[in-house]
Amino acid sequence: MTAEAMTPPAGAARASSSRTPSRRRTHATHRPTSWWLDKLRYRASTMDEEYLDLSEPISFASEVERDAAIRFFNAAYRAEESGLRQAHELADEMAALDPELAEALKLYGDEEGWHRELLTEFIDYLGGEIRPMGTVTGTFYRLYGRARRMETIMLTNLMFETIGSTTYRMTLRHAKHPAVRQMLTILTRDEAFHVPLNVHFIREVLRRKPDVSRRRMKAIYSLLFLALVASTIASRRRAQAFDNLSVAELSRAYAEQLAGLFNHESDLDMKPPWIIRRIFGMDDEALSAITNKVAVSVAAAEASVDRRQVDVTAL
Ligand SMILES: [Fe+2]
Ligand SMILES: [Fe+2]
Repeated sequence: MTAEAMTPPAGAARASSSRTPSRRRTHATHRPTSWWLDKLRYRASTMDEEYLDLSEPISFASEVERDAAIRFFNAAYRAEESGLRQAHELADEMAALDPELAEALKLYGDEEGWHRELLTEFIDYLGGEIRPMGTVTGTFYRLYGRARRMETIMLTNLMFETIGSTTYRMTLRHAKHPAVRQMLTILTRDEAFHVPLNVHFIREVLRRKPDVSRRRMKAIYSLLFLALVASTIASRRRAQAFDNLSVAELSRAYAEQLAGLFNHESDLDMKPPWIIRRIFGMDDEALSAITNKVAVSVAAAEASVDRRQVDVTAL
């Protein structure tokens, strides 16, 4: 599916082509903050051009499938809500240290806020409502919400973004209804930009705050890695009737995407936990093969800058 499927209403203003970002092949996570800020401002200026086309009624094969779809998009809603809140809190914290980075965090949070609005509209279209969080999801977000250390917030957010992006892309494999495809495409496309953006945030905050504990970051990465891969068991009970993804394929995809997250970032020295490497047979050769598939790739970041140019593919 291409961005053509998301054409704004006739007459909607379009940015001039001279503002279309360039596609040079430099490593996107190593761009300076000014580059990211420029792209985020551009994206903010074009956000209103897009709308959800919910004109075609949706029906499901069963109430079980409808309920699974509502649960699936409720989980997405909670991820957006949490990303929005944490990004804006970090923006406040960074304002005095690095105003440019603070503005980038603010605009990034605004994008999550926009996703949350779209999901609210979409869940209503599915015949559902925003529901209280389940036990597993609630536990994740309660712990995340309590996080006060910068490294915990940033790393957790990046890992949540990664599994969200992975789930959306995989669900696109089977999704047929145009409105479902459009909703998933918007989320997939924007998360492909957010994942490398979050890697940039981590690098910059580490530069600004040398007291941040690298050892703590590695411990959080390993613990959360295991918890997120294990969470596929609970999420399958809730959403499998909608997304048709098995525990085996989703857990492997999470493991690969999370393992590859820092493959480009050798200076951060973050390696997947040994148990994950053992379970999923990730030797060094397998890990380097993963590098080519991960959402943080240069192509994913740069190709996602201009929403209208993005060609979203299923994972
Ligand atoms: Fe989002
Ligand atoms: Fe995001």
